[in-house]
Amino acid sequence: MKSTIAIIVAAGTGERAGGGTPKQFRPLLGRQMVAWSALALSRHPSIGRTVIVVPKGAYNQRQELEALCDIVVEGGETRSQSVIAGLKATEANDDTLVLIHDAARPGLSQSIITELLAALETHDAAAPAMTVDDALKDTSGDTLKTIDRAPLRRIQTPQAFRYGDILSALIDSPQDLVDDLAAIEAMGKSVALIQGEARLAKVTYEEDFEMISRLMTQQVRAPRMGTGFDVHQFGPGDQVTLCGIKIPHTHGLIGHSDADIGWHALTDAILGAVAMGDIGDHFPPSDPQWKDADSGKFLLHAQRLASEAGYALANVDITLICEAPKIKPYRDAMRAKTASLLNLPLDAVSVKATTTEGLGFTGRREGMAGQASAVLTALPKPD
Ligand code: CTP
Ligand code: MG
Repeated sequence: MKSTIAIIVAAGTGERAGGGTPKQFRPLLGRQMVAWSALALSRHPSIGRTVIVVPKGAYNQRQELEALCDIVVEGGETRSQSVIAGLKATEANDDTLVLIHDAARPGLSQSIITELLAALETHDAAAPAMTVDDALKDTSGDTLKTIDRAPLRRIQTPQAFRYGDILSALIDSPQDLVDDLAAIEAMGKSVALIQGEARLAKVTYEEDFEMISRLMTQQVRAPRMGTGFDVHQFGPGDQVTLCGIKIPHTHGLIGHSDADIGWHALTDAILGAVAMGDIGDHFPPSDPQWKDADSGKFLLHAQRLASEAGYALANVDITLICEAPKIKPYRDAMRAKTASLLNLPLDAVSVKATTTEGLGFTGRREGMAGQASAVLTALPKPD
């Protein structure tokens, strides 16, 4: 029955991770971090509605998030206040089951969700827990004191509750709790701890991005790489479009679409990596709907096909081959445009240029060529 509500708290500022954009909205394995949790929760057969709690104020990606969940709502100063905002944004009975999850834990598996909900059949609350494996020391006194780690647990999210229990407990608690269990554990409620998972770790610091990417891709297939090549002939015109950037030139490039050799080569590289034919198979030049088309559409289509096949772009490298126009002044703009279109970090996008020393068709300035390679990492399989 799809009656369970999932609340994803994504209203933090991510101070400790740094990097400008809050960590939960930064790219991770080809998606925004928060999208991983939203997909895992909304895909589960028991979950009906998902809520994403976002930071207050100007937040320009709201639309993107609305596509991932049922309700987007603004959070508060503390995590507890954000959870309360998420709970209040839904209409629910006191005994509706609710899962509360950190957006900063993208490695959520289907089996964890299933086990938590099963545990609620016999308990008031449930959460994933991990043992402590390092030695533990109390540093508060003058000398170190060893702490018995055997009874200690590290608690992850999602944490599962009944709606009425958790909402009233949070409202009656101090607003700076470290997690939601803290609100009910002193109330004599029964709590089931299920076995947590390493990949459910929280991204807290910058270096955790690398750690979580590794954990989420550990059990998956080898990466893929593909290459692409494209040529267009110069013709009448006063500008060319390269990697989405319009550059003034003595000629234009002749083509059915916008003749963007950089993005065409990259589209082929992505299709090549997943062995899905070439750009002509997907966007036949004979089809009038692609006349003067923005090549960004081709690129996004290839990325979507790769994602459906279970792969995310890791990095791309494009080389533009011509005597003129000069590419260098536009190179950073091309990288930024490509990175933003594909939702990749800037340092995963390279654009280079070369002449052919006056040799061949590019040397004779009859046209331009572009080549590209792309490496794709395998996405964690839905389990
Ligand atoms: N969170 C929230 N509202 C807040 C604070 C935190 O929704 N006022 C969310 C975060 O977005 C995150 C989760 O709670 O998904 C766990 O919090 P944490 O890892 O501490 O994230 P931040 O508070 O954003 O990071 P930092 O403490 O480093 O600033
Ligand atoms: Mg915090």
